[in-house]
Amino acid sequence: MALTDITPGPAEDEISRLLRTSSLVPLTVTAWDSGALIHASEAAAALIGVPADALRGQSMLEFYVDTEQRRALLRALEAGAGEAFAEIQLRRADGRQIWVKVAAQRITYGGVPCVLAISQDITEQKEQARALTEALEQLRRQASNLNLDERQAAQAASRAKSAFLAHMSHELRSPLNAILGFSEVIRGLHFGREQVEKYAEYSGYIHQAGSHLLALIDDILDIAKVEAGKLDLQPSSFELSELLDECARMMRPMIDGRGLALGVNGRAAGLSLTADRRRTKQMIINLLSNAIKFTHAGGRVELAAQRMADGAIAITVADTGIGMSDDQIAVALEPFGRVESASINDPTGTGLGLPIVKNLIEAHGGRLQIRSQLKRGTLVRLVFPA
Ligand SMILES: Nc1ncnc2c1ncn2[C@@H]1O[C@H](COP(=O)(O)OP(=O)(O)OP(=O)(O)O)[C@@H](O)[C@H]1O
Ligand SMILES: [Mg+2]
Repeated sequence: MALTDITPGPAEDEISRLLRTSSLVPLTVTAWDSGALIHASEAAAALIGVPADALRGQSMLEFYVDTEQRRALLRALEAGAGEAFAEIQLRRADGRQIWVKVAAQRITYGGVPCVLAISQDITEQKEQARALTEALEQLRRQASNLNLDERQAAQAASRAKSAFLAHMSHELRSPLNAILGFSEVIRGLHFGREQVEKYAEYSGYIHQAGSHLLALIDDILDIAKVEAGKLDLQPSSFELSELLDECARMMRPMIDGRGLALGVNGRAAGLSLTADRRRTKQMIINLLSNAIKFTHAGGRVELAAQRMADGAIAITVADTGIGMSDDQIAVALEPFGRVESASINDPTGTGLGLPIVKNLIEAHGGRLQIRSQLKRGTLVRLVFPA
């Protein structure tokens, strides 16, 4: 959508095509000096919160929280051979402030020096980074107030945190590398202009890696929330057998796909549980997916619930799979802890499932019990207090 009547010269064909085809990408062309908007894609207009038509004639500078950031971007473009990246704070039309990461390029458009910019909303990342810095700062302040014993304990905790972070970045890096690598191939048209199917295949890999990344980040946030005491459970009373059936239905394709049998114990009928239903389901699904992943074809998985003598309610997931030794159970309960044989059965797992389940059941005031024997199978029990 052209916002002014500048007629593109022949050298601008490329840019015009990009503008026409990129409504999903937040992309703007602004005049170098005034910041006047010459082009804005639908996605760019949505980012600012203004209908694309209403942007006509407006200057991008009106949306800058600090116009010095625009001058700095121009300086960076001059210094960096016409290309630069920057993080910029914008004020949307509704007053909300957002952070965007901008990849900018100096271009001549309609004979006028302009800035072509592609933006990405990074407000959430910024907020998380700020919260992390604050937490670390608080931890540092607290640690400096502690006596020596406590200080050593804090150091151990901080070492554990560092190890966790190191492992986490490693886990995040592999899907990110896949995303960068495959998109690089697409961006560079490495297979030529005709191989559309090849590019579609590669964008499928990017999507897969992106989904994996998202699931991973959800898991990491779950762990972080519990450890920061920020998990708010929403307890309600619900019919347990319904939940078990729901979980069994959900895992049916995975059960069938691996050639296993699944039994759901009927003794749960009539039992009602007071707990956070969504989190209880998350725990059961995690345990079922483990039981399924680590049991060979022909094996059996049992899902059951019962009221114990003391009134506590236990949900049990048992399998006839590869099992674990006591040492291996200890490993499995650590974040990112995976037993060696796991990677053969499940190359994509990250070792966060069990620690999340343990955190969640403990947040309910309950406990996690694991009994297992190598090559015989595993029984995992969630015990909710009476
Ligand atoms: N039912 C089981 N039978 C045998 N080994 C198991 C079982 N459940 C868990 N394990 C072992 O414990 C490890 C940790 O389990 P956890 O659920 O935390 O991670 P994961 O399943 O490997 O990955 P994720 O759940 O994050 O996708 C597994 O890698 C596996 O080695
Ligand atoms: Mg798991």
